Amino acid sequence: MDSNLVIQPPTGGQAFDETQVPLYYRRKTADILHKYGPGPRVHFHVGLFAQGATPNTTVSQRVLKRRIVESQEAIVEHAARTWGAYANPPARVLDIGCGVGGGSLYWAQEHGASVTGLTVTPDHVPVIADFARLAGVSDRVTPLLADVHDFTTARRYDAAYANESSGYMDRERLFQVVAKALKPGGWFGIQEHFVCRPEWTGFIDGYYKTRLGTLTEYIAAAEAAGFELEQDEDVTDRVAEFWVQSMAWNTAELDRVERGPAAPGGASAWSRERLQESTITHGKLFRIWRDHALETRLLLFRLGGGN
Ligand SMILES: C[S@@+](CC[C@H](N)C(=O)[O-])C[C@H]1O[C@@H](n2cnc3c(N)ncnc32)[C@H](O)[C@@H]1O
Repeated sequence: MDSNLVIQPPTGGQAFDETQVPLYYRRKTADILHKYGPGPRVHFHVGLFAQGATPNTTVSQRVLKRRIVESQEAIVEHAARTWGAYANPPARVLDIGCGVGGGSLYWAQEHGASVTGLTVTPDHVPVIADFARLAGVSDRVTPLLADVHDFTTARRYDAAYANESSGYMDRERLFQVVAKALKPGGWFGIQEHFVCRPEWTGFIDGYYKTRLGTLTEYIAAAEAAGFELEQDEDVTDRVAEFWVQSMAWNTAELDRVERGPAAPGGASAWSRERLQESTITHGKLFRIWRDHALETRLLLFRLGGGN
């Protein structure tokens, strides 16, 4: 056997460097709050548009932002509804990779849940605590600086939720941890992008510092931990428009930055270089989604042992 044989990870060319994730989000937090804020419910994930809707982008930047934020709220609401959370609200939710807390606040405000939000980015924790206070749910939202791979807890959650965060994680470990945290019969809802055309994986993983996987890989990891897949909705076509609207917001912001700090709306949190890089990347992202090179799906997994 060749002693120099290097075992490659399943989808990428390089081993995953977990230390990059908090560094990436530390740099991005102010940008996220500026673009998707002011909150208190601030999300960092793609949003849902009506099937076939292509709203005209020659509108004000304020309208673009409103559309973007509404689309993010729409996908969270759509998932919760199709997963049965309105009919049967989960009392305790584990929000894995909670970002600046948009999902955690959603579960607390709309469903009365007690939520634990996990993030590996220290800067997120005080931001979530402030937003929870502003939203009047600080007694029900607990942000925790914790790596899900090492997370242990008593089996007390009714549901777990991972919105565009599982792509940073080791899926086998993730499902094992969630299986131990959920009550028997509990559910694990995931919004994520899945690799269909591997030639694009390096580009996306390089940009977002992720390690995206395939649907097959998720299902195998879930089954090994005692879950079964109950719902699988492909929302790729309905989220592709998010990149168009987001690109239009970036272009408007770039325009403002180039006019200097005296431009209406005040100074930007974004640098000119970041906006340029992001805007160019958006063109590729739209084509990747349009061509289904990646697919965004809403998955509902159920842990065995319930009624
Ligand atoms: C794209 S953001 C998603 C944020 C949030 N779910 C939302 O929908 O707005 C990814 C989040 O995953 C978190 N994350 C990444 N790896 C993690 C890990 N191993 N354990 C816990 N959180 C992690 C990051 O800190 C970040 O908050």
